Amino acid sequence: MDTKLTEEQELIRSMARDFAQREVEPLAKELDQKGRWPNELVARLGELGLMGVAVPSEHGGAGADTLSYALALEEIARACASTAVIMSVNNSLVCDPLLRFGNEGQQKEFLAPLAAGKKLGCFGLTEPSSGSDASSMATAAERDGASWVLNGSKNWITNGPAADVILVFCATDRSLGSRGVTAFIVPTDAPGFKAETPDEKLGIHAAHSCTVFFENCKIPDSLRLGEENQGFKIAMNALDGGRIGIASQALGIARAAYEKALAYSKERKSFGKPLAEKQAIQFKIADMATDLEAARLLVWQAAFRKDAAKTDSSIRHTRESAMAKLVASEMAHRVTHQALQIHGGYGYSKEYDLERHVRDARITEIYEGTSEIMRIVIAAQELRK
Ligand code: CAA
Repeated sequence: MDTKLTEEQELIRSMARDFAQREVEPLAKELDQKGRWPNELVARLGELGLMGVAVPSEHGGAGADTLSYALALEEIARACASTAVIMSVNNSLVCDPLLRFGNEGQQKEFLAPLAAGKKLGCFGLTEPSSGSDASSMATAAERDGASWVLNGSKNWITNGPAADVILVFCATDRSLGSRGVTAFIVPTDAPGFKAETPDEKLGIHAAHSCTVFFENCKIPDSLRLGEENQGFKIAMNALDGGRIGIASQALGIARAAYEKALAYSKERKSFGKPLAEKQAIQFKIADMATDLEAARLLVWQAAFRKDAAKTDSSIRHTRESAMAKLVASEMAHRVTHQALQIHGGYGYSKEYDLERHVRDARITEIYEGTSEIMRIVIAAQELRK
């Protein structure tokens, strides 16, 4: 794997870093403490082309590659994990499937404004009684002439309270299990759609999620994404990309904590010497730095493979994306805890950022597929060889 970045990748990373440091980082603590939705930052992400990084420019996006997307997301997550996941969901879970499976009309009506940041999307797969076992959903869509009538609920829907569009997965033929699921693009002003108030969570306080309801929500067949009963594969394919986004988010969170611990270890003196001179701290620094780099290589590998798959249908990145998410999220757990430990009591205090990084890292091991599901996905791919 060639790890030298292209000029375009370097440019996107430095643009995202500059924006994150100047505009995102100064707001992160306040957003977390108040649980405030970052309206102004979401608008700026759109203006900078960061809501549709890998969407071709003719469809309203920045026309960059998946590695550029991962690089940008890491920079945003280093500043604010909440802002990063808002960006990740719109890019990976909404724009990407619309680009891959949408028809011309759907791409014009939905993809272009979503990729340009003029509209916001969310992804409705999880339900109160089916998280990891995603295909056993209760939400159903029934045909009614040239329309569909949707009934049911989805929960933990990131961006749900603010979204203009939801990509939702419904059972259309229960007897077929995962082969009886269909995807629909539903504007959130459709009659019968309702979004609840934001959930209360341990971390990523500013990235609002909620339960959404469909009550006899009638939509035309033109809003069906892909073929009837092809929806589960669309969801899985979207998650293969989404997992690169969450892995990049985990890298950013871990890097924020690591950089703070590194600086603190040089400043803080104990027993007459800076912490950094103690071997116990040096070992932690070595482990954190190595863990971060190892995870980043897996994320980059998954991103390269996703791009390679665009021109070669024999290539899949399911395994690489799952490996990247598994390793990066568990790395972020370890690194944020060690960084907090180096800060001692200050790490536990709300005055510093470390406790936020620990809380924000935790979700990366759960959403878009838990670590346990990542291991199932990786093992299934290995056993297929
Ligand atoms: N790409 C394309 N097709 C795929 C696929 C992939 N990555 N993975 C599976 N499929 C296909 C299979 O080939 C199979 O097709 P056939 O029927 O034609 O053979 C079909 O889908 C069913 O596959 P499985 O039998 O493997 O399905 P399963 O029911 O056993 O489930 C699972 C597999 C991996 C456990 C899956 O349910 C899964 O990933 N669960 C986790 C769900 C998840 O990640 N949820 C996250 C919610 S979104 C979120 O968190 C967003 C947010 O808010 C931030």
